Amino acid sequence: MNLPDDPISDDEDTTPTPARPWPYPLWFAHRGAGRLAPENTLAAMRAGAGLGWRAFECDVRLSADGVPFLLHDDTLERTTDAAGAALDLGWAELSRLDAGGWHGRIFAGEPLASLDGVAAFCLRNSHALNIELKAAAGDEERTGRQVALEVRRLWGEAVHDEQAIWPLLSSFRPQALAAAREVAPELPRALLVETLWPDCIDIAERLGCSAMVLAQSLLTPELIRRLHRDGLRVLAYTVNDPGRAGELIDLGIDGLISDEVDRFVPAD
Ligand code: G3P
Ligand code: MG
Repeated sequence: MNLPDDPISDDEDTTPTPARPWPYPLWFAHRGAGRLAPENTLAAMRAGAGLGWRAFECDVRLSADGVPFLLHDDTLERTTDAAGAALDLGWAELSRLDAGGWHGRIFAGEPLASLDGVAAFCLRNSHALNIELKAAAGDEERTGRQVALEVRRLWGEAVHDEQAIWPLLSSFRPQALAAAREVAPELPRALLVETLWPDCIDIAERLGCSAMVLAQSLLTPELIRRLHRDGLRVLAYTVNDPGRAGELIDLGIDGLISDEVDRFVPAD
């Protein structure tokens, strides 16, 4: 019985649900490989790609005028030279900010990355992308909808010609995934969870998700088996310890999101 308060119950003998197609590599560089270079920038992705990474996780949100761009926080002060809510500014203003100087002088002047720019970089280099939908409270639906439409516009032709794979859309916010599904149901989705809140697995299934992305500390052999049996792929964040990465690989994990871009060398 899938009890709402027992999301990892593994004692049910049911027929496994077939998994959806899963074309992604095992390793994803977290925040666009944003450890040796400023997170969520093209400079970081280039650094990661130079070390052999070919799949990236990044955080995407909308400007006031609806342009998708990369930024983790709701506010600008931690990773740019401006302050205040990102959602208050249009892309013309955001695109002039320095998103690199905070990390080190060699990155001073690095701009915020637009999803357009990231798409060009990934498509030309055959990199896979996991787009985490970030949204200030209340902006989830607009974000899910607009990012999904932009992903379809930017990647659609290459995917249709079998030159590329869709980015995976992930989010902690079910509303954002639901809105993305409404406008572009063909895009693969993943529910992100930091805790096993009641019904989270059920919600992921109802959203038609291909995967769940879970905080790595939540993952047990039983939970991985349970999710696989339900036809969901299982990804873990943020896996920076080689021992833990090995354990999860032995348990059949489908994806590892890591900051340690100079420690791990993805083999696939
Ligand atoms: O996608 C997994 C991970 O990126 C979620 O955490 O805070 O780094 O976006 P955060
Ligand atoms: Mg993220």
